[in-house]
Amino acid sequence: MNILLTGGAGYIGSVVSEQLIDRGERVVVFDNLYQGHRAAVQPDAKFVQGDLSDRSAVKQVFDENAFDAVMHFASYTLVGESMDKPFKYIGDNVTNGLNLLQEAVAHGVRRFILSSTANLFDRPARIPIDENEQIIPGSPYGESKYLLERILAWLDHTSGLKYAALRYFNAAGASERFGEDHTPETHLIPLVLKVALGNFPHIQVYGGDYPTHDGTCVRDYIHVVDLAQAHILALQALDRGSRVYNLGNGQGFSVKEVIETSQRVTGRSIPSIVRDRRPGDPATLIASSEQIRTELGWIPKYPNLEDIIRSAWEWHLSHPNGYEG
Ligand SMILES: NC(=O)c1ccc[n+]([C@@H]2O[C@H](COP(=O)([O-])OP(=O)(O)OC[C@H]3O[C@@H](n4cnc5c(N)ncnc54)[C@H](O)[C@@H]3O)[C@@H](O)[C@H]2O)c1
Repeated sequence: MNILLTGGAGYIGSVVSEQLIDRGERVVVFDNLYQGHRAAVQPDAKFVQGDLSDRSAVKQVFDENAFDAVMHFASYTLVGESMDKPFKYIGDNVTNGLNLLQEAVAHGVRRFILSSTANLFDRPARIPIDENEQIIPGSPYGESKYLLERILAWLDHTSGLKYAALRYFNAAGASERFGEDHTPETHLIPLVLKVALGNFPHIQVYGGDYPTHDGTCVRDYIHVVDLAQAHILALQALDRGSRVYNLGNGQGFSVKEVIETSQRVTGRSIPSIVRDRRPGDPATLIASSEQIRTELGWIPKYPNLEDIIRSAWEWHLSHPNGYEG
């Protein structure tokens, strides 16, 4: 297949593109390098530097390539920032997605995979969270993903576009070659590892009084390599119909457990300071991924927190200054 990956120079897109190319697929990465890195583009992928807000650039990439599928990773991604800049999210994330979808439909593309999010579930009634949970986006960021999910549902109806919306919980870990390098970094595991590397003096823990077993927030960390595998399976299944899956490894780990495990894996001390809770952080978010397991046979290979952290640590040790180092 010939596949367009928007945001393929970013964290998750780089690992998905690596797996697609390993399977013999052809990949075109379209990325403005706002957060991504040229060095994160798999060398066998074709790279087009462009911005999704530029409709003519989007049209050109479709005119020049006959795509069988599109995977849409490119997005503004910060929940906190979206509370301060709602139009950057509800506006740009949605209009950029629309530019892409209009060209995809106009060029006869039949398969589309959207990076969606656990931030659709701000007040889950049941843990683990399955696909029947009520959708209450937790931020303008989550709302922008939900709006794109809704648009995709209509395009299936009106244009026969088959889509998968994959609602990731917390992507973590690295492949041998590609890892997580964001500026600013907001994700817990790379931040904790940067403390182990000596880049920061301590890790801030937001809230020590949550109703969890040790008082810190519990999250579901899914290895990025397992996440990438889910994209391959979803892509293969699209001809049988559109689908929506929650994607996590089904286990929760607290912030304290992440810090303790990271100390064990790195053999280094990781000081922490407990701060007040951040508004909008639910105590516990754990995915039920039963549906994708049952329907597509997806089985995470690395559900173990230690394995996830070790892969990230190895990548950080080999890239102490990220991709630019
Ligand atoms: N990382 C997670 O844990 C997580 C969890 C849930 C959902 N997601 C979603 O998964 C996707 C990928 O996440 P990630 O962590 O790899 O993010 P990332 O920031 O590493 O990658 C996104 C890529 O998109 C590019 N990009 C952004 N805006 C663009 C635009 N207008 N035009 C072209 N390129 C643009 C960036 O340069 C970057 O390379 C995002 O849509 C994110 O919302 C991520």
